[in-house]
Amino acid sequence: MLRTHTCGELRISDVSKKVTLAGWVQRRRDLGNLTFIDIRDRYGITQLVFSSDINSELLDKARTVHREYVIQVSGTVRERESKNLNLPTGEIEIVVDEIKILNPSITPPFTIEDNTDGGEELRMKFRYLDLRRNPLKNNLILRHRLALETRKYLDSLNFLEIETPFLIKSTPEGARDFVVPSRMHKGEFYALPQSPQTFKQILMVAGYDRYFQIVRCFRDEDLRADRQPEFTQIDCEMSFIEREDILQTFEGLIRHLFKSVKGIELPAFQRMSYDDAMNYYGSDKPDLRFDLKFTHFTDIAKNKGFQVFDNAECIAGINVPLQANATRKQIDEWTNFVKDPKVGANGLIYIKYNSDGTIKSSIDKYLSENDLKQILQKANAKEGDLLLIIAGEKNKTLKALGQLRLHLAKQFNLIQENTFACLWVLDFPLFEYDEEEKRWVSMHHPFTSPIGDLSGDIASIKANAYDMVINGTEVGGGSIRIHNKEVQKQVFKLLGFTDEEAMKQFGFLMNAFEYGAPPHGGIAFGFDRLTAILCGSDSIRDVIAFPKNNAGKDTMIDAPSTINEKQLEELGLLIRQDNPQN
Ligand code: AMO
Repeated sequence: MLRTHTCGELRISDVSKKVTLAGWVQRRRDLGNLTFIDIRDRYGITQLVFSSDINSELLDKARTVHREYVIQVSGTVRERESKNLNLPTGEIEIVVDEIKILNPSITPPFTIEDNTDGGEELRMKFRYLDLRRNPLKNNLILRHRLALETRKYLDSLNFLEIETPFLIKSTPEGARDFVVPSRMHKGEFYALPQSPQTFKQILMVAGYDRYFQIVRCFRDEDLRADRQPEFTQIDCEMSFIEREDILQTFEGLIRHLFKSVKGIELPAFQRMSYDDAMNYYGSDKPDLRFDLKFTHFTDIAKNKGFQVFDNAECIAGINVPLQANATRKQIDEWTNFVKDPKVGANGLIYIKYNSDGTIKSSIDKYLSENDLKQILQKANAKEGDLLLIIAGEKNKTLKALGQLRLHLAKQFNLIQENTFACLWVLDFPLFEYDEEEKRWVSMHHPFTSPIGDLSGDIASIKANAYDMVINGTEVGGGSIRIHNKEVQKQVFKLLGFTDEEAMKQFGFLMNAFEYGAPPHGGIAFGFDRLTAILCGSDSIRDVIAFPKNNAGKDTMIDAPSTINEKQLEELGLLIRQDNPQN
């Protein structure tokens, strides 16, 4: 070994020990006949001291090293005169009697400090330098511990970690696939899995009973702060269970992770139906760290002669405590926010319940004071509060109000740091209408079992599906599966597949169902999202060692990139005009 100790290890009890350390130069300070170097490795920082009183040749050599040089030093541990109690090694320093430069470094393009001066783009290109910084390093350590504790917890419950293939078959449902051309079968393609969904179900048919895998998944989607084209799932499946078993088992996993990795004891998870989540929070992943729950006025505000209300499918609002004195300018700002095409409301109505008991609203002309009072009462508004109302088509209205709710929470600092609101959202619709494709699609995926049968209005069939939401982020989702070939066939039919198409795409699964498929269900967690929440990061990029940038590129290795003609030809992707065989 090139070292006897790490740079984070030595303490006051080690004084007088002869030690050898190796690491990177964090900084060098020259003071008269003294030089201090902070040497850094993954474990911490230790102060080295060189003095001309002890050895002036050594001091001269120390003064030739710069930031990020890799050095090896030997010396004696001594108690520091001025201690730095913020540093675990801050009570000691090493009086060096030998220094060796293992490798010099050119000047890094940004400082390797907790608060760096490097912009995101530069740090992505030099990711290996960014990874030397504490914030990223600590995130990756936490990620490792989460993976380890996940394995421990699931192993203790008899789950087996089983790998499934990455080169699979492209299927038309879900997000867009990444595809890989086959050299041996020109014109044919593998797809990278969006998730191991069908394989884990087949493992249940095979009798493996409790499966999990910490596994990479690939989806060719547009990127966002919580989306990467390749991301990691904790993917799980169980046989002979009901929904409640899954909820208990995996609430247990999350509880175990928070406790073992962060020492946090989570309260029991809340549960809410999808319908309630949409009706009262305007989102299928409500952030319950703050209140601002909606009140509905459709029943009491209609038919009072105000056209906007009379024509609305839904009238709902948020009571904002103590904001009755909001200025015109402020109300205009909220109105513009909800009218932005991305939010999509037609307008915003306000009712001020002034602290002197009077009422002032943007619809004074249309509704009597009595009617306004009734609305305020239903919202439980107090004197001094402000009610903000949106009316219109139901889905649009609720979603717009949901976005306004998040906007208000940020504006008024209602979100407490370091709090975790965990929620199960249950009873999703089985299907949703895809406006672009003009057909019904699975809200979750086509293997999700319905609650009850498949007859009746397609929009009102509920799925035996559940999502886990933490602080307004969907960290996981799953369902009880269909394990009956006929029901599976019927679902494909409702999705617009002919029997033939369904067999072509998913025949392997439906055939497997004929050989004794047990009742089963499962869930997959977004491991990056979960880690980001535990790290307090806004972006999953901060918890992935080598993520893609906003444009889906890895700028460090320059991917994606073109491939040469020979490769294209071998893969059957290039037709050469001069090739007589073509
Ligand atoms: P689903 O598609 O909901 O379910 O994915 C499960 C979880 O994976 C995370 N996730 C992502 N994280 C980062 N980047 C992405 N592009 C991305 N897409 C999804 C989310 C999500 O909750 N096979 C089913 C699970 C099952 O039914 O068991 C599935 O993949 O946190």
